[in-house]
Amino acid sequence: MAEARRRVWVSQPLFDDIVERLRAHFDVTQVDAVTEHAPQAIAESLRDSAGALVTLNERIGAAEIAGAPQLRAIANVGVGYNNLDIPALTSAGIVATNTPDVLTETTADFGFALLMATARRITESERWLREGKWQQWSFGTMLGADLHGSTLGILGMGRIGQGIARRARGFGMRVLYHNRSRLPADVELETGAAYASFEALLAQSDHLVLVLPYSPQVHHLIDAVALAKMKPTATLVNIARGGIVDEAALADALAHGRLAAAGLDVYEGEPTVRPELLALRNVVLTPHIASGSLATRRAMVALAVDNLIAALGEGPRAGDPPTPVNPEALVAGKTIIAKRQGA
Ligand code: GLV
Repeated sequence: MAEARRRVWVSQPLFDDIVERLRAHFDVTQVDAVTEHAPQAIAESLRDSAGALVTLNERIGAAEIAGAPQLRAIANVGVGYNNLDIPALTSAGIVATNTPDVLTETTADFGFALLMATARRITESERWLREGKWQQWSFGTMLGADLHGSTLGILGMGRIGQGIARRARGFGMRVLYHNRSRLPADVELETGAAYASFEALLAQSDHLVLVLPYSPQVHHLIDAVALAKMKPTATLVNIARGGIVDEAALADALAHGRLAAAGLDVYEGEPTVRPELLALRNVVLTPHIASGSLATRRAMVALAVDNLIAALGEGPRAGDPPTPVNPEALVAGKTIIAKRQGA
């Protein structure tokens, strides 16, 4: 008798023609409308699944996987994976994968676009024009801050941070960065970025871009104390995760002239944006779209699908997913299965 096909859960509508590739190996249950899944609904969907293709909307930890004994792999469509409790997945022998590299340049482009829009007040001046407030050309209208000749600070110097540094070089900026570990000298040379302490980065940056991964250790790293160390003329751009910034302190600094402007693509309570931020004119707000070019979003889904197929032991890379977050779980998962089978 033919073995029953394993089931995988796809949590949101993605690109059907790419997700289709899963159907060669598994029974696919795909959610066909954008959905906010309650924790209990996630647990229910994972219950009989061997794998899942999920987005940053789905928070998955010990409670969600507790009733899913067959679950072996979770492919996250995104480079950040703070929606997943990796230690809990690893101890259950569940491999998690993410989608690095394919989104690096697109996200760096967007970081730069948001920086320019913020420093040069592009969305603010467009709103003002559309509201019919432009009565006469004047010399002092919407004066912003220069990028060229200024100092750009990059907090988090991974692939995306390095992509932003390369772009900044082309704009004639001085680039400083701060990172958990200092980059090798050849990378510093190639990106044109100089290492600075966190304090020096805050104090010297005319523009500060946040590109570091979220972890509880960096929760509200940019708080009132950090903001007070920045220049009052500075701009702050966040394309990382909302929780890195204390948004109440940021809104207060922006409202009282202690910081010139901010560009935010990510928020602590997404998709809710705090009213104090919505009320400010000197903040550019975008809906978490930094990796959102069509080509890149397709590439992210394709990589996630490849990861899921391989992590579940199918396809040309069976057992060797391209971008695992916790490769140690590949071994743990095999051991758990073997034990269950009485080996
Ligand atoms: C988006 O925020 C991602 O982590 O890919």
